[in-house]
Amino acid sequence: MITEKAPGKLYVAGEYAILEATNPAILVAVDEFVTVMLTESDTTGTIHSKQYAQDSIHWTRRGSQMIVDNRDNPFHYILSAIKFTEQYVAENGGTLAVYNLTINSELDSADGKKYGLGSSAAVTVATVKAVLHFYGVELEKSLVFKLAAIAHLTVQGNGSLGDVAASVYGGWLAYRSFDREWLRSAVSSRRLTDVVNAQWPGLTIQSLKPVEGLELIVGWSQKPASTSQLVEKTDEEKDDNRTQYNQFVADSRDCVEQIIAGFEAGDGHAIKQQIRRNRALLRSLSDFSNVPIEIPRLTTLIDIAEKYHGAAKTSGAGNGDCGIVIADQNTDVAAMKAEWQANEILPLDLHVHQVS
Ligand code: PMV
Ligand code: MG
Repeated sequence: MITEKAPGKLYVAGEYAILEATNPAILVAVDEFVTVMLTESDTTGTIHSKQYAQDSIHWTRRGSQMIVDNRDNPFHYILSAIKFTEQYVAENGGTLAVYNLTINSELDSADGKKYGLGSSAAVTVATVKAVLHFYGVELEKSLVFKLAAIAHLTVQGNGSLGDVAASVYGGWLAYRSFDREWLRSAVSSRRLTDVVNAQWPGLTIQSLKPVEGLELIVGWSQKPASTSQLVEKTDEEKDDNRTQYNQFVADSRDCVEQIIAGFEAGDGHAIKQQIRRNRALLRSLSDFSNVPIEIPRLTTLIDIAEKYHGAAKTSGAGNGDCGIVIADQNTDVAAMKAEWQANEILPLDLHVHQVS
């Protein structure tokens, strides 16, 4: 039996602005995983998952058509990961076979709670790894990233793929997204292997050395949120607020670049200041684009963290999911967590995960 796993992720800074190619964001991988187990079969294959058993679908109407929304359905990420990985294997002379996959996720709780830790990215990455492993292909990180990014983008249709990068590379990352239009047209017009071997315009993935004395603390708002829908809404609002949007993107870039410099200099104080600045930038984006990001529960989470001298902000698309805190020796973490719990915020026992 083959077993491969991939970690979940959290955004630390640079959300939304990361959707513009070459713009940076900071992410971390966390130590909760999606595991994919694969055994060969000689008859029919199966895909089984306890957490991802599908009991409902989401759909909208376009005229007489019923449009099924598969973006929040993990099975579609698994199928897409298999499809592109096998296409790559076949192009490189592999012989395709039949197998059973069993998927287990720690990123979604047993009672179906979604924490927003990037389970769709992690399930895509873990599936690509298991299938490559099965066909005897070396799990080179940039190959895994590119196949998983193509598979993920094909299902979700939007997103920066930062979650896929965090799940492949692990640790603290500075991620700059690539030109997704270029990728879409490359995938539709070129051999997959050529696309994977090409340099993707704009893409850079840089590991950051953890800063001594800084700790990442995570609180869950207990409200699930849909990233793809929030991204769609901000995208629609962009054209009506061009000047403000461009300013937001430029300010976010400067802010994240200062965080990267803070990591390089080991300057925790600078990192904390820029986390606070990024919070303010995301609040302004939310105001002018009318998209809920820092909902009241997340404001409570942040206010409590700041009271105990942590630097806090929403993580990811917002409107629920998690908030993050950069804590140091001045932060009273125990008091902060106790006050969170009294305010319906759940501290999550997560740590930054380094991928070997
Ligand atoms: O909500 P999350 O953790 O999936 O993060 C989304 C971050 C965005 O920048 C808003 C979208 C993206 O794909 O980068
Ligand atoms: Mg989210």
